[in-house]
Amino acid sequence: MTDTIDAVVDIIAADRALKARHRTMWALGDYPRVAREVIPTLGPALVAASGIRRGDLVLDVAAGAGNAAVPAARAGAHVVASDLTPELFSAGQELAARYGVTVAWEEADAEALPYGDGTFDVVLSCVGVMFAPHHERAADELVRVCRPGGTIGLLSWTPQGFVGELFKTMKPYAPPPPPGAQPPPLWGDENHVRALIGDRVTNVVAQRKTLTVANFDSPQAWRHYWKTAYGPTVAVYRHIGDDPERVAALDSDLDAHAARFFRGAAWRTMGWEYLLLTARKQS
Ligand SMILES: C[S@@+](CC[C@H](N)C(=O)[O-])C[C@H]1O[C@@H](n2cnc3c(N)ncnc32)[C@H](O)[C@@H]1O
Repeated sequence: MTDTIDAVVDIIAADRALKARHRTMWALGDYPRVAREVIPTLGPALVAASGIRRGDLVLDVAAGAGNAAVPAARAGAHVVASDLTPELFSAGQELAARYGVTVAWEEADAEALPYGDGTFDVVLSCVGVMFAPHHERAADELVRVCRPGGTIGLLSWTPQGFVGELFKTMKPYAPPPPPGAQPPPLWGDENHVRALIGDRVTNVVAQRKTLTVANFDSPQAWRHYWKTAYGPTVAVYRHIGDDPERVAALDSDLDAHAARFFRGAAWRTMGWEYLLLTARKQS
């Protein structure tokens, strides 16, 4: 019995430590800048697809700096923006203030949401819940806090798209993932998400779409920006920081990765694929 209790205590402690590392990673660099400058259209796209109406009670899971939460509030919803990394909330508060809307910002792990069953009309996550390491736990929580007949709206990078391939490119340079952690881009695979939320939902609509990114005029320009602004990339460079050969190899691999996604020879735009999936919770 004591052994079982000790084992459970160890599992809880390991999960806390893992989430603390994830929080530190997302607070590195300048994620609000990425949200503001590179992917600001994704939140509004998710809000529109989720059919949010005035007066809805909406939860944005892994909301970051409010890329989806603020547009949901602008649509007239009452919005809770929850995230593991409260360091991102001040940028979200500034964004909300700019539009004259109110959002409640709450620190929470997507795998253990501090809300009652069936609380929200709409549960959203924009390239967010995909980064919680235990997919079933996170999916169960999304479904649990949504009311019967409510909507779940998810926008996730696909495995074969720009960000999915970026994680594959960085993997040999990163510390090994902890046991049981699943790769984030699996959430961009429609079949994976259908299997996670299963028969607890109906009316599943899934579309693969492409974000046009026109912020960078070369692979190197993208790399310079990304390695100082995007937490997971900043963290990988820190991990290999004392090995100049590995740093140079990662630089070169990232340039080659980005070059594959530019359209045309003029380095004008890149296409970053994502999955936009909405579903209705069974009544
Ligand atoms: C790529 S950012 C997306 C933020 C925002 N939704 C957006 O569209 O800009 C990923 C977010 O997931 C959050 N996150 C990662 N793991 C999480 C977890 N277990 N629970 C809650 N949030 C988590 C990070 O703190 C970060 O804000």
